[in-house]
Amino acid sequence: MVIAGHLVSGVRRIRHIAMEQSERIQQLISRKRSGPKITVLTAYDYPVAVILDNAGVDIVLVGDSLANVALGLDSTTQVGMEVMLHHAKAVSRGVKRALVVGDMPFEGYQLDVSNAVLNAKRFINEAGCQAVKLEWFDRCLEAVQGIHEAGIPVMGHVGLTPQTAEQHGGFKVQGKDEGTAMKIIDAAMALEQAGCFAIVLECVPTLLAQEITGALDIPTIGIGAGPHCDGQVLVTQDMLGLYERKHPKFVKLYADMKAEMYSAIQRYIEEVKHGEFPGPEQTFH
Ligand code: KIV
Repeated sequence: MVIAGHLVSGVRRIRHIAMEQSERIQQLISRKRSGPKITVLTAYDYPVAVILDNAGVDIVLVGDSLANVALGLDSTTQVGMEVMLHHAKAVSRGVKRALVVGDMPFEGYQLDVSNAVLNAKRFINEAGCQAVKLEWFDRCLEAVQGIHEAGIPVMGHVGLTPQTAEQHGGFKVQGKDEGTAMKIIDAAMALEQAGCFAIVLECVPTLLAQEITGALDIPTIGIGAGPHCDGQVLVTQDMLGLYERKHPKFVKLYADMKAEMYSAIQRYIEEVKHGEFPGPEQTFH
């Protein structure tokens, strides 16, 4: 009885999300024609989610890049559903306005495609996301169709797909020759047919991104794909200079938060050592 009750409330939540979100999703899709371009940034925790939402970003992506950026792991395939849900819950608590998209981890759909719909539902029902994203792989269309038919908005991801990058020659620009470019175009068009509401194009030449953007009715969101996409996404820690790794060419440093943090922390250390902190203002009398 209890299990049946949970199932019914899960189904109701998805129906409710589907109705509530379809208008928001349609609005995002209409930005392809009417502009302005769609803005997407990643968040893995509550404070960053609050800042992104208040700053006005359209989509907050709980990216599986959290494996590298937030957890210091080598590969995005090292995070699973439980970790992604844990972070997605924190992000959802902080977002009141933007669309929260949960990034499906490798184990959530590529290990066994029959789990894709179930795990997409967990992002909605347990973590409070309004949509999911998944990367292209050989059974991607099956997964996307199932998730779309379950009433969950789904975003595709083609070009450089970090979860399977090693199978496609590593972390480099994809679609540089005609054969691979055609495969990416076909994949993007098939994803639109299967029900995606938007597609991330990662690390592809600008002309290829322009061609795909022109061929689709749904928005393309570029990362390392040039200026012709309908929107852009970056990893927040990259654009704020908070992540130690060498920046890919496509990242623009909008702030040097690492330098700001070093300087604040060093001032704190000095002030504590010299008895300057806490001062009278921070002391209870
Ligand atoms: O995981 C992630 O952050 C992503 C974006 C880079 C698109 O997939």
